[in-house]
Amino acid sequence: MSNKTDWNQVNEWDSKYLLHPFVTAEEYKSCPIERTEGDYLIMPDGTRLLDMFNQLYCVNSGQNVPEIQNAIKEALDRYGFVWDIYSTDYKAEVAKILVEDLLGEEGWAGKVRFTNSGGESVEVATIIARLFTGKEFIATREHSYHGISGVAVGLNRVYAGRSHISRESDKLVKQVPGQGYGATIKCPAPLCYRCSVGHTYPECKSALPDGKLPCVHTTEMFIRNHGVDQVAAMITEPAFGAGTIVPPMEYLPQIYQMTRRLGILMIVDEVLMGFGRLGTWFGYQKMGGGEVKPDIITVAKGLTSSSIGAGAVIVSKEIAKFMDSVRWNHVSTFSGHPIAMAAAVANLKYLIKNDIINKAAEKGEYFGSKLRELQEKHKCVGFIGGYGMFWQVELVKNKETKEPFVEADRNTAFADNPASKPVAMVLNKCLEKGVLLGGFVPNTLRIGASLTISREDMDKAIDALDYALSAVDEMCE
Ligand SMILES: Cc1ncc(COP(=O)(O)O)c(C=O)c1O
Repeated sequence: MSNKTDWNQVNEWDSKYLLHPFVTAEEYKSCPIERTEGDYLIMPDGTRLLDMFNQLYCVNSGQNVPEIQNAIKEALDRYGFVWDIYSTDYKAEVAKILVEDLLGEEGWAGKVRFTNSGGESVEVATIIARLFTGKEFIATREHSYHGISGVAVGLNRVYAGRSHISRESDKLVKQVPGQGYGATIKCPAPLCYRCSVGHTYPECKSALPDGKLPCVHTTEMFIRNHGVDQVAAMITEPAFGAGTIVPPMEYLPQIYQMTRRLGILMIVDEVLMGFGRLGTWFGYQKMGGGEVKPDIITVAKGLTSSSIGAGAVIVSKEIAKFMDSVRWNHVSTFSGHPIAMAAAVANLKYLIKNDIINKAAEKGEYFGSKLRELQEKHKCVGFIGGYGMFWQVELVKNKETKEPFVEADRNTAFADNPASKPVAMVLNKCLEKGVLLGGFVPNTLRIGASLTISREDMDKAIDALDYALSAVDEMCE
């Protein structure tokens, strides 16, 4: 029982025996969580923390949903474990819900292969793309994030997401030697607030005679320059999670059209945006202007609302036909785990039955309007972008000039003191008000609660943000 837990002992073991992310052992302070509830993490002393980053933007249905918990318990009574060559009712049903119920009307989706995580879904997607096309290279974008494993981390371009190590005392930064960046082509990101090809949105829409966004034009030129004959696919997040970029609406349709022109596959990494984060079932549906039909999508996080880890790759009918015609020597022990599949069935049914995706879109309209009020009020808020329960907030020293607090912005490796970053400041101030906020890059807040957050909790988060941004305003010019 939790009330018998010796939390001092837990904290001691936690500090002594674990390798922790993002901090040195000296910097580490354990944050014990006794249980979760709705949008809250509850500490052993009863402190309730409102989770505005939904853990890693992944508990879409909210914490401790009884329907999902009961389904897991029932599955545990039936199954210990069977691996992926056996069929279970749960696994078959998740695949059917994904291909038929969620994507059937669009007509492109063929079949599903399950995985254990988002990063693994990206690995599998790129393997399929390479096998199907017989080509090696994958085009990716600046500030992208796709996971921690070999190919996935090789596709990551957000500097802080490359599994590197850093240390402030001697400014050490070491990227992983030999990490597989090899067969990737790095293209510009649609970061309109700080355009890396030197344009300004929306004027950039008429910069080129054919109406292509300059970032898309450059992407195409980079791929053509490499040689289309060697390029299997372009991968993109519909909105960038870790890099925290909400692209303009033209970006995804134009990237899609580019892939059709070049005859390469389009992989949409829906690991973070899938299952309602942007107020549509999949992020490409929000960002794609109704015309994007991906060749492959990758999912994880929201598939089970993270009640148990599971991911999947959904491939087009054409790719499914090809993969069905061959023997594929590729399996992972836990993929399609019956307990995870039971969680996925229950989670998807819960999202459908309660119309949670549409409700997330409405919540986003309210939350976005409140964020825009903060933008008006605070000197430090340069830009707000987002939909549903995913929001990008750019913090700047000077609104007019867009001068950032941390010059390297998304190209920082976190080698200097994280406490000096505006995001860290906002985070600490919000914590004083019992609100947890996130941000993976130093000048940008990344905000997104569960899709079931109450209006009262949204207001509470906005009040905490208002308080925190006032402190950042004092650092503005
Ligand atoms: C877009 C995207 N792809 C892949 C991943 C990796 O997923 P996982 O951490 O489950 O391996 C993430 C994680 O945040 C992500 O945001």
